[in-house]
Amino acid sequence: MQLNIGFLASHTGSSMRAIVEAITNKELIKSDVRVIISNNSNSFALNFARENKIHAFHISSITHKDEDRTICSTLLDHDVNLIILSGYMKKLGNVTLEKFNNRILNIHPALLPNFGGRGMYGKNVHEAVLKSGQSVSGATVHLVNSEYDVGRVIAQYQVPIMINDTVEILTERVKQCEQKLIVDVVKRLEDGSIQLD
Ligand code: GRF
Repeated sequence: MQLNIGFLASHTGSSMRAIVEAITNKELIKSDVRVIISNNSNSFALNFARENKIHAFHISSITHKDEDRTICSTLLDHDVNLIILSGYMKKLGNVTLEKFNNRILNIHPALLPNFGGRGMYGKNVHEAVLKSGQSVSGATVHLVNSEYDVGRVIAQYQVPIMINDTVEILTERVKQCEQKLIVDVVKRLEDGSIQLD
């Protein structure tokens, strides 16, 4: 299936960059990055988009009174059929959620259904994982709905937890695995071996 991807990112957009790289390397052959939206005007993600001549928009509740409708119409205007949240720190509004039902993916830095939910982002997740004494962590790609981290799990990769791991070390290991995972998921969406409906 041809994928027209729209990204939403608040900071670095590391998985977005991994996908752009995979498209450039021809690892992904039926994917096109249509637009990048960020709520943060200084985000690395927006700068990256502009440097790479990808349509980029700064949309937040301050810049746009109806943020949700503006996000949704921007995605529609760019013919997006798959949204990927690449470190997007805000909840999406109902207009976008409904219009893109089963077409929105998020990457979570742990093995859902554990270590998800409100407040479970960034280093909080890895701190909780290390504290729990688990021997594995990993990354999850899941569908997005109106609640945090409860949409259907699409795919997961595991990473081991080592005895001397710190939050920083585990963050880095999981981040690398997230990038491989999201590229793999997009590849499998392209070839139809993963379906979102
Ligand atoms: C990732 O760790 C991912 O799990 C979460 O946001 C983080 C990426 O943010 N959804 P960034 O690319 O470093 O801004």
